[in-house]
Amino acid sequence: MSEKKFNRTLVTAALPYANGGVHIGHLAGVYVPSDIYVRYLRLKRRDVLFICGSDEHGVPVTIRARKEGCSVQEVVDRYHHLIKDSFEGFGISFDIYSRTTSATHRQVASDFFRTLYDKGEFLERESEQYYDEEAKTFLADRYITGECPHCHNPQAYGDQCEKCGKDLSPTELINPESKVSGSKPVLRKTKHWYLPLDKHQAWLQPWIESHPEWRPNVSGQCKSWFDMGLQPRAVSRDLDWGIPVPVEGAEGKVLYVWFDAPIGYISNTKELLPDSWEKWWKSDDTRLIHFIGKDNIVFHCIVFPAMLKAEGSFILPDNVPSNEFLNLEDDKISTSRNWAVWLHEYLQEFPGKQDVMRYVLTANAPETKDNNFTWADFQARNNNELVAVYGNFVNRALQLTQKYYDGIVPAAGTLTESDLAAIEEFKGVKAEVERLLEAFRFRDAQKEAMNLARIGNKYLADAEPWKVIKTDPERVKTILNLSLQLVANLAIAFEPFLPFSSARLREMIAMPAVEWDRLGALDLLAAGTQLGTPELLFEKIEDDAIAAQLQKLADIKKQNEAENHRANPVKEDIDFATFEKLDIRVGTIRHCERVPKMKKLLRFDIADGLENRTIVSGIAQHYEPEQLIGRQVCFIANLPPRTFKNGLVSEGMILSALNADGTLSVITPDRAVLPGSEVG
Ligand code: 2FM
Ligand code: ZN
Repeated sequence: MSEKKFNRTLVTAALPYANGGVHIGHLAGVYVPSDIYVRYLRLKRRDVLFICGSDEHGVPVTIRARKEGCSVQEVVDRYHHLIKDSFEGFGISFDIYSRTTSATHRQVASDFFRTLYDKGEFLERESEQYYDEEAKTFLADRYITGECPHCHNPQAYGDQCEKCGKDLSPTELINPESKVSGSKPVLRKTKHWYLPLDKHQAWLQPWIESHPEWRPNVSGQCKSWFDMGLQPRAVSRDLDWGIPVPVEGAEGKVLYVWFDAPIGYISNTKELLPDSWEKWWKSDDTRLIHFIGKDNIVFHCIVFPAMLKAEGSFILPDNVPSNEFLNLEDDKISTSRNWAVWLHEYLQEFPGKQDVMRYVLTANAPETKDNNFTWADFQARNNNELVAVYGNFVNRALQLTQKYYDGIVPAAGTLTESDLAAIEEFKGVKAEVERLLEAFRFRDAQKEAMNLARIGNKYLADAEPWKVIKTDPERVKTILNLSLQLVANLAIAFEPFLPFSSARLREMIAMPAVEWDRLGALDLLAAGTQLGTPELLFEKIEDDAIAAQLQKLADIKKQNEAENHRANPVKEDIDFATFEKLDIRVGTIRHCERVPKMKKLLRFDIADGLENRTIVSGIAQHYEPEQLIGRQVCFIANLPPRTFKNGLVSEGMILSALNADGTLSVITPDRAVLPGSEVG
């Protein structure tokens, strides 16, 4: 944080596109860390607002509507509600979750553009852009595909090649094609408004350099933009979905989605606080923090600040904590390939386990580098950390109190050396968690909170109250009092991270209020307090739940492979006479067995309507002999006999189809025919 004195904190979380659900990549990158941060600030009694909403303009939503064959409005309505509900179910505690199709946003974004326009902050330029003459529309970059000039992928997009990862402009594509009509697009002149970022570089660069506390991935990306030299950026588009450009002669043009989306932070604040929103955006004593993913850095650190500065009355962000990406089972998360764990599905499939996912995503947060989510790690962190460390400690402390003292907190006696040693260990936790949270180091902060549970577990294991009770019952009162104080501290320390579990735990220990400032205290639960009924705080996740998730992913992979599968090119033509020479027949398998010492071979005894024949075929890895006996198959009857090394002779070849995934299927007539029937 800079040295400035701030009186309030305005936290924004990137507005997700309403073109699909929210997945664990979004959660780990933006929403879980921002929620932890805001919950912490609220616990510190700071004045804070947490703003988000759906990003409902731009090409991603229009592409989804084309794909689903419905209107864009239907798409954004459906996904806006899906996202909003799943955030709520997951405990992401926005003060407002609105949408960029709201009337307030339309007005605010439109006025913002108009102010910049009136101040002469834009350049007006004509350029040539691809136009689809059949569909009578200009084409956004994503609506043009063609061959990548770098890796020759035939399906590169107008803005990027997904195969080699290079950024492209549509005019670089070889043989461009419109995705709207399939026709060849033509270049046509069109006028747009540009934000002259080159003019802004002079103040943007020193401003970002004056924030050495920003994450290195953020300042590093900005530096590379500055090194290349900022260029004017178009802030309007030729599209029929979006906020109309509020200027005469701009028919058919809308605000570029990256112009209107960040203004959504402002309009949503205004929607929430129509009378006092300006205090949050226009006073120097507000600290503005944008939580984003790394693909949004340039827009939040360069473009949006330039817009705010050009407008003139807004503050700039004080920090832009941006995470790297989370992969799923070693593969890039992708909405279009459905390679994701979707929040709305998780909430249905793991009811009541919001905190498990919150914990795992924070423990694995991609704060400094891309990270990987695996279901095996999810299970291990739940079973070995939440259940075995945190849950176990809480459960033992509460159950023993129930057993020895009917659930009433016993009074502590004199503290021993070992008590003091445990206290000493956990004394620093509050300061450390706070330091880490203030520095946006959520992973380490959560680790510190977990450390409290480890201290508690070790303390109980060493103190062994279940043994001491037989010899020194007075001492057990002290052990359990101290343990219960630790439990109460855990409920506070985990409140920003695992709010659902903390609330349940507080109920169990009859501690309704969370007083963050008392974290570290040893008198959180007064002697004589009647505790509630102990329940398990976390449950083990069994192998079958994990296997089901892995199967789901395997099915998706298979489906993607099937969708992307392209058959091999067709072989050279043959003449009809050659084809007629081929004698393909149907035979009935009378007997089938494995061939000793030849792993791949099956020996078939085939009824062929003549003298019967033996065929040896290399399909032993795909069928058990018993599966085939009695079945009819097609075979080539007029190949010369082939002798194998072990002397076996094969009198034909059984026809089968080889699937893309390597599995194989013999070709069977779909109705029984007489053995020897000819195939043609
Ligand atoms: O990348 C995205 O998903 C964008 N919808 C983020 C927008 S953030 C802000 F500018 F609204
Ligand atoms: Zn490429």
